[in-house]
Amino acid sequence: MANQFEVVVIGSGPAGYVAAIKAAQLGKKTAIIEKWVKDDGKTTWGGTCLNVGCIPSKALLQSSEMFAESAHGFEDHGIQIKSPKIDVAKMLERKDGIVNQLTTGVAGLLKGNGVTSFEGKGKLKSGKVVEVTKNDGSVEEIQAENVILAMGSIPVEIPPTPTDGDIIVDSTGALEFNEVPKRLGVIGAGVIGLELGSVWKRLGSDVVVLEAMDTFLAAADGAIAKDAFKSFTKKQGLDIRLGARVTGSEIKGKEVEVTYQDSEGEKKETFDKLVVAVGRRPYTEGCLSDDSGVKLDERGFIFVDDQCRTTVPGVYAVGDVVRGPMLAHKGSEEGIMVAEIIAGHNAQMNYDAIPNVIYTHPEIAWVGKTEEELKSEGVDYKAGAFPFAAIGRAMAAGDTQGQVKILADAKTDRVLGMHIFGLGASEMIAQGVIALEFASSAEDLQLTCFAHPTLSEAVHEAALAVDNMAIHKV
Ligand code: FAD
Ligand code: NAI
Repeated sequence: MANQFEVVVIGSGPAGYVAAIKAAQLGKKTAIIEKWVKDDGKTTWGGTCLNVGCIPSKALLQSSEMFAESAHGFEDHGIQIKSPKIDVAKMLERKDGIVNQLTTGVAGLLKGNGVTSFEGKGKLKSGKVVEVTKNDGSVEEIQAENVILAMGSIPVEIPPTPTDGDIIVDSTGALEFNEVPKRLGVIGAGVIGLELGSVWKRLGSDVVVLEAMDTFLAAADGAIAKDAFKSFTKKQGLDIRLGARVTGSEIKGKEVEVTYQDSEGEKKETFDKLVVAVGRRPYTEGCLSDDSGVKLDERGFIFVDDQCRTTVPGVYAVGDVVRGPMLAHKGSEEGIMVAEIIAGHNAQMNYDAIPNVIYTHPEIAWVGKTEEELKSEGVDYKAGAFPFAAIGRAMAAGDTQGQVKILADAKTDRVLGMHIFGLGASEMIAQGVIALEFASSAEDLQLTCFAHPTLSEAVHEAALAVDNMAIHKV
């Protein structure tokens, strides 16, 4: 067979393209297949993250944050701006420019590393043969020594609110509104609901978030989630309704009427746009032939072991299509691990040290165990917390919301978790990730010299607070 490769990757998201580049860098003859075609008919690389996920959402978060600051946050600094206006088309154009720069950058990186690209839909057949159905309908077969499945995920749809691409949309639609909706409904107070809800709220929408669960951000540390809920609802005016289960919707002209059930009974709300953000699910449809031998788990994820091996020797799966958090950096690390394993190296991932960040204002970030998890696991722990209200740099920045919280083992002093709600949390959490990776003790952080004045001093003080030794204790 003409097309023979040592490694064939299906999907070019952050899991797949990173795996392909790493495999090529390790000397493997590598190919990658991508099926995503843009409106202009051209293939786009980089998957959900670069095209409709991490990057465009952060571009809009940045623009909307600057608008909100210019509208409400500059007076204290003595800066007066008369009624700033938002040009939504220009904001979207800027976002699209960043996406374009990065997706073409990925294509360039693949080429530069000698990875062969196939444009079309890949399907794994038995015997590690991968069939590529190209965009013109023609079919080509590739023989692989190793296959890395990295097909990613797609939004979950729920029967009460079928998306129509106009009034009821998923996260991709919420990145494309060409004007600020007057009333915006969001189903799901998860990561997407909070980030994209924040974007449009800052630009002027009345945002109502309907969340089925009674607990806000159940995966986060309870104290941090409590701080965040208070800030988002009271300070920013996001109307987050917990325990609100959506049961139906009806499009009436240019509006949608949503029916939901809460502890008081059935209620209705009308919105100009509705974003459905109730989670994502692994995408495997039409990607695996019946005799491929690759098994899925009960939730539809490709079943893999700790090193991302599927049930077929030489076939691996990484990223959103397998268990674990659906995060770009988790997928990329898995991709690197698998490329190393294929190259015969010893490699593994530390799934206990994957950072989570929610890019709200302020940001929420954590790594490791929450206090609730430690309690339920019966771990004897110590906790230290320090508020940004007592940090000079936070005062200078005009944003003293939130805290840093550190959890450490009561006997060994080893850091078990770091939780931050505050300005710059997404950058600061790397300190917690390094602490966990290096198996640091709280004392290691206590004995470290942090620059002054920085927001990171709150990490230092929280580490000191673990042993009740904070200097600027309030
Ligand atoms: P994907 O990025 O989904 O890529 C899979 C690729 O495979 C796609 O390009 C798809 O077209 C292609 N494909 C699928 N099947 C085939 C096939 N049969 N043949 C060929 N190609 C195929 N994560 C973060 O860590 N930080 C964030 O800030 C963040 N923000 C997000 C914001 C939004 C709005 C969304 C929706 C997601 C966000 N995520 C974020 C999640 C992140 O995008 C995903 O975790 C990440 O993209 C998963 O990477 P992946 O490579 O596994 O899959
Ligand atoms: P999510 O799992 O974070 O949140 C979904 C929310 O919807 C949950 O709180 C859930 O209880 C709620 N929900 C589910 N069904 C509901 C219903 N019928 N009615 C009301 N509420 C309902 O999922 P989300 O926000 O869609 O994001 C998907 C994934 O994308 C996340 O798991 C995350 O990993 C990734 N992502 C990561 C980002 C980041 O790292 N900053 C940003 C955006 C997405």
